[in-house]
Amino acid sequence: MKSAICYYSFTGNTKIAAEILKDILAEKGIVDLVELRPKKEDKNFFMQGFKSFLKKETELNNIKYDFTEYDFIAVGSPVWAFGPAPAVRTFLKHVTGVNDKQVILFVTSRGAGDHKAMKEMARYLKEKGVKDFKYVSINHNRIKDTKYLKTKIIKVIDERL
Ligand SMILES: Cc1cc2nc3c(=O)[nH]c(=O)nc-3n(C[C@H](O)[C@H](O)[C@H](O)COP(=O)(O)O)c2cc1C
Repeated sequence: MKSAICYYSFTGNTKIAAEILKDILAEKGIVDLVELRPKKEDKNFFMQGFKSFLKKETELNNIKYDFTEYDFIAVGSPVWAFGPAPAVRTFLKHVTGVNDKQVILFVTSRGAGDHKAMKEMARYLKEKGVKDFKYVSINHNRIKDTKYLKTKIIKVIDERL
């Protein structure tokens, strides 16, 4: 099985979750970790939150959008203003080759708007024919608790693969 984990992370929490997911999926085959990097990134939290609230997108650096070669895809984002970060919106809007594949959506947050954010992420993919979703919401206060992260992620993986 070939999997891709595509994620954006500004302060590193979602990256930690993505890496744990990678370790778990690596037992089942090849895993590519794809970091979404905006060409221009606001360093100002207020502007980031504001742009996310307005459902803005942002241009990404060196990103491929065709995921035809993968059997399984995971997409991760921090929750910003109750939605995904703009880099993740851009990715989800442009990604191809995902129809009828299994998708895990994961977010890290302080717990406000996590479900809303994942619902929005799913909406982009439903338009591309994805029907099979699993959701993982990780509280940023527990990001260093590897056991908590592994338990939450494995629960979803075991059901699927
Ligand atoms: C601009 C901005 C907006 C945020 N908005 C929310 C929010 O609406 N709800 C929430 O629970 N956490 C919010 N957070 C907290 C982040 O979702 C949380 O710290 C997340 O783990 C950060 O992930 P990262 O380290 O991968 O960037 C926000 C953080 C930032 C910087």
